[in-house]
Amino acid sequence: MIYDSILDTIGRTPIVRINRLAPAGVEMYVKLEAFNPMSSVKDRLAHAIILDAEQRGILKPGQTVVEATSGNTGIALAMVCAAKGYPFVAFMADSFSIERRKLMRMLGAKVILTPAAERAVGMIARAKAYSEKHGAFYTEQFDNPANPAYHRNTTGPEILQDFAGRRLNWFVSGWGTGGTLTGAGQMLRLARPEVQIVTCEPAAAAMLAGKEWNPHKIQGWTPNIIPSVLDRTVYQHNLPVADDMARDVARQLASKEGIFTGVSGGGTFAAALEIAHTHAKEGDVILAMLPDTGERYLSTFLFEGINEGSDEE
Ligand SMILES: Cc1ncc(COP(=O)(O)O)c(C=O)c1O
Repeated sequence: MIYDSILDTIGRTPIVRINRLAPAGVEMYVKLEAFNPMSSVKDRLAHAIILDAEQRGILKPGQTVVEATSGNTGIALAMVCAAKGYPFVAFMADSFSIERRKLMRMLGAKVILTPAAERAVGMIARAKAYSEKHGAFYTEQFDNPANPAYHRNTTGPEILQDFAGRRLNWFVSGWGTGGTLTGAGQMLRLARPEVQIVTCEPAAAAMLAGKEWNPHKIQGWTPNIIPSVLDRTVYQHNLPVADDMARDVARQLASKEGIFTGVSGGGTFAAALEIAHTHAKEGDVILAMLPDTGERYLSTFLFEGINEGSDEE
């Protein structure tokens, strides 16, 4: 297949059946966002926000783009800006993995680290101040309606098309900006109201469940704010997932299914397994979103204890 731009390869990600981890009597599927060009769901958001800003005339040729990001959004924006010729500056908390910073710099971006103690709020405030000072375009991933709109136009319809004429009972997605959950969830509710929408969040920071935010290890999930684009009426169930459970399930997906996903993918599939074991009826079909690739977590606890030397013969 020949494409005019790397940007044309975003989306239309495969949905793959889980063959060994699914309990008997329940069919489980995952949608693999790692098949996007920079290997995460955030390629959709980055493309959406830049296209929308260009169409509305608020992003001029050559203007600098700025975002506060936990990493995947920065990597995706760096890719989109490189392909379209915009300089890009990412503000990122210094607690996120080293490989994320290096990937952005490889894609031509400038990365400014902010103290982790300032949390998402501090990172956002600094990015906003910088864009005002330099007349840059601030992408506002947590508040930009182009984010869920793109998921309404792409992720949701892709799922509807792939499951046309097939049973689908449960859709499971975590939330960071809430773009995926809101956009795909709204389309599923509209077109397939029988599908139950399930969200999940870190047990240590279950903000939708009304708990206090505490630091957690599921990168990409649950900043210490509930984003304005997140539609809190879209889901019927909300499950907490512990950090270690997210890690363990990501490892099981890799070693038992050959499906390589990050910690949040492990967390989402952990919630899907809980649905499969405790809520699902015989014959039910569950789809879980896997937001990115495990390779983005080489320096994190996902790979902790994995042998670097030779194994025994
Ligand atoms: C690794 C990872 N998982 C999950 C998400 C959540 O996706 P969304 O922002 O659409 O809620 C993100 C994005 O923040 C992410 O980077």
